[in-house]
Amino acid sequence: MEKVEGLIKIFLTNLKNSKRAVVLTGAGVSVPSGIPDFRSPNGLYAKYGQDIFDIEMFYRDPDRFYDFAREGLITMLEVQPNKVHYLLAKLEDKGLIKGLITQNIDGLHIIAGNKNVAEIHGSIRIWNCLKCGKRYEILNIDNKNYLLDNNFRCSCGSLTKPDITFFGEMLPLEEFSKAQRWAENSDVFITMGTSLVVYPAAQLPIYALRNNAKLFIINKGETPLDKYATIKFDTDLIEFCTYIEELIDSL
Ligand code: APR
Repeated sequence: MEKVEGLIKIFLTNLKNSKRAVVLTGAGVSVPSGIPDFRSPNGLYAKYGQDIFDIEMFYRDPDRFYDFAREGLITMLEVQPNKVHYLLAKLEDKGLIKGLITQNIDGLHIIAGNKNVAEIHGSIRIWNCLKCGKRYEILNIDNKNYLLDNNFRCSCGSLTKPDITFFGEMLPLEEFSKAQRWAENSDVFITMGTSLVVYPAAQLPIYALRNNAKLFIINKGETPLDKYATIKFDTDLIEFCTYIEELIDSL
């Protein structure tokens, strides 16, 4: 226990002394809210298949994606942020982090109160018609119900697609450029709840390391970048954040 507390204190000292700390989050941050991650044994890929977010699969069999969307995406709208999201909002409020980059599409960081957010894989909030371009903001319950009642077909009859990055698609350029700038100028780079196996998101910690930033990884399970981390916390995020909460006001 003492060892972990000692490492946490080193983490917090680096965070406190940083000028441009940046955070990159992944699906593990939303697991305590009830959203499965992707690659854990009971993650989304185990249940729906690795190709559920492939753009070719979507065009080949849109209804397979829509069936998944009913259970695995629209349900995200009912989910609340958890202690990890709220701690990250507090760190931004206290000026301790300058930017929050997320691979998550659930919008929970924005709901929790973070303002400087780069959603580099987009978000489920917006669905667009592939033919007429009509935009459905599904935080609006009528739009959400219209899509659910019409199996995600637009009023013009064509397919709609969520504003998220499928494998095989370009990332939203503006969001990724913002994230890259933050990473390249960071002096502390913290990753939370991501396996760091998907590019170009996993390139961001490498941009930070090239700027001599200190890398801190908080994740249950290995990541390919663990060996480059100043400290790797192989721990549950709720546990980690509970520690931080107890010490943050002393910063
Ligand atoms: N505490 C700490 N770590 C956790 C917790 C938790 N409570 N819950 C899950 N994790 C860890 C898992 O062990 C896993 O290593 O979070 C990591 C999540 O990794 P992935 O499931 O691979 O999710 P992510 O890294 O966000 O995936 C990146 O891949 O599928 C695409 O576009 C999708 O954005 C996603 C991208």
